[in-house]
Amino acid sequence: MKFIATDVTDSAARLAEMVTRQQGKPGFAIDSYFYRSHVTYQTELEQIVYKSWIYAGHISQIPNHGDYFLFELGEDSIIVSRDDIGEVQVMHNICRHRGSRVCEEKSGNRKTYVCPYHGWVYNTDGSLMTARDMDLLEGFSCDDYGLKQVRFEVFQGMIFINLDDEAGDFRGPLEKLNTVLGAYDLANARVADARIYRVDANWKLCLENYLECYHCATSHRAYARGHTLKELDHKVRPLNEAMWARAEKVTGIKGITAGFYDYYDAASAFGACAYHSRYALYEGYQTGSEDGKPVAPLMGHMQGFDGGAGDFQLGPLTFMLNYPDHCVLYRFIPRGITSTDMEIVWFVNGDAEAGVDYDRDKLTWLWHRTSQEDEAIIVRNSEGVNSHFFEPGPYHPEFEAMSMKFISWYLDALGRGAVSGSE
Ligand code: FES
Ligand SMILES: [Fe+2]
Repeated sequence: MKFIATDVTDSAARLAEMVTRQQGKPGFAIDSYFYRSHVTYQTELEQIVYKSWIYAGHISQIPNHGDYFLFELGEDSIIVSRDDIGEVQVMHNICRHRGSRVCEEKSGNRKTYVCPYHGWVYNTDGSLMTARDMDLLEGFSCDDYGLKQVRFEVFQGMIFINLDDEAGDFRGPLEKLNTVLGAYDLANARVADARIYRVDANWKLCLENYLECYHCATSHRAYARGHTLKELDHKVRPLNEAMWARAEKVTGIKGITAGFYDYYDAASAFGACAYHSRYALYEGYQTGSEDGKPVAPLMGHMQGFDGGAGDFQLGPLTFMLNYPDHCVLYRFIPRGITSTDMEIVWFVNGDAEAGVDYDRDKLTWLWHRTSQEDEAIIVRNSEGVNSHFFEPGPYHPEFEAMSMKFISWYLDALGRGAVSGSE
C-alpha cells in the first residue's frame, strides 16, 4: 500500500508544539505526525538534509577530463564533474538565466554544458562561457553568472557534498578515520555494483531501521548467521575481544580496531558524523557472504581475514560495512514524504576483475537479500505508523540506542527550524 501522507492540521506552529511534546517523551518512538506532515518534511530538508555532509559518488565515476554525473537530492540536482584541467567541481544543475536544468542525462562526458532553454554555455568548471546576445544588456558580465558552486570534500576517493555554504568542517572528522578506512584503499577501489532500492516509506523509518539490529534476528536470517550485532553486547563480548586481540596481526593494519563515536549530537559540527567500530563475525565467517567464505581478493592494504567487520558512519545519511575483501556503502536519500532511495554501492579492490576475481552475484548476495528484507519491513512499519491508531512505544535501551540518538538530534534540528518558521 502506498500512502499519500498528510496531516490536515499542519502548520509551523503545530510542528513547534509537536517537537516540544515529543522531546518530553525521550526514549519513545515518534508520533505519526512526523511521518505525515508536509511542513515537517520541508523543514527536514532545509534544517537537516541541506545542511548535512552526504556521499555524492566515487572518484572512479569521473576518471577523465569532462566526465560528470548527476547526484539528485530531494528535488535538487547537482552536477559532479571533472573539469578540463582535471579538477573535481560540484555545482547546482540550475541555469543562472531563468533556472532551467542545464544537464539532463545522468552521466557522460561534456566539453561544455549548454542550457537547452536559451543556449547559455557553461564551462566544465561551471563558469559561464557565453550568453547569447546578452551584450545588449548594459553591464552584463559572464563572470557574474557561473553555475552556483556546492561545497565538497574528496576523502579516500569518496566525494561528499554539503549544500550549506556555512556548513562546519568535515575534513577533520574524516581524517580521524584515516587509518581504519585507509586500510581498504577506497581511493583506488572498483565500484563492482550499485543499486537503488526505492522504499515507499519516509526516510526516517529507513534510517531508524538501519541504526538498530533488534530486528536482525527476526528479519534477517541469512545476515544473523554471520553477524554478531544481532546479540546484546555482553553475550558476544568474548568474540569481539578475541577478534580485537588478533585483528592488527592478521590484517597488518595498526590501529584497525580503534573506535570513534562522533555522530549526531557528538559530531564536531552539524551533519559531520564520523563513526567507526569493529565487531566480530561468528566463527567460520570471514566475510559478509552467503556461506561466510571470501567473495573477492583482499582489499587495499589488508593482509588477512581477522573475522571482523568495520562499521562506519560518514555524515548522517551515509554508512559503510567493510569486510576485508569488500566494502558496502549505504546511503539514504529522501525523495518525498513517503519515498526514500536506499542506495547500495559494492566496492572491491581496484585490480579485481569481474568474472575472474569475483562473481557479482555472490558478492552482492547477502546485502541485496538483506536490503530486500529491509524494504519489506520498513514498508510494513510505514503502514503501521501511518495508522490513526498508532501509539508510539519504547525503544530498546541497548539495541535501539543509536536510533534514539538519531531521533534526539533530529528533534533538536527540527525544533530550531520550527521556531524560526513559526515566528
Ligand atoms: S534558462 Fe538557461 S539559457 Fe535561459
Ligand atoms: Fe535490516
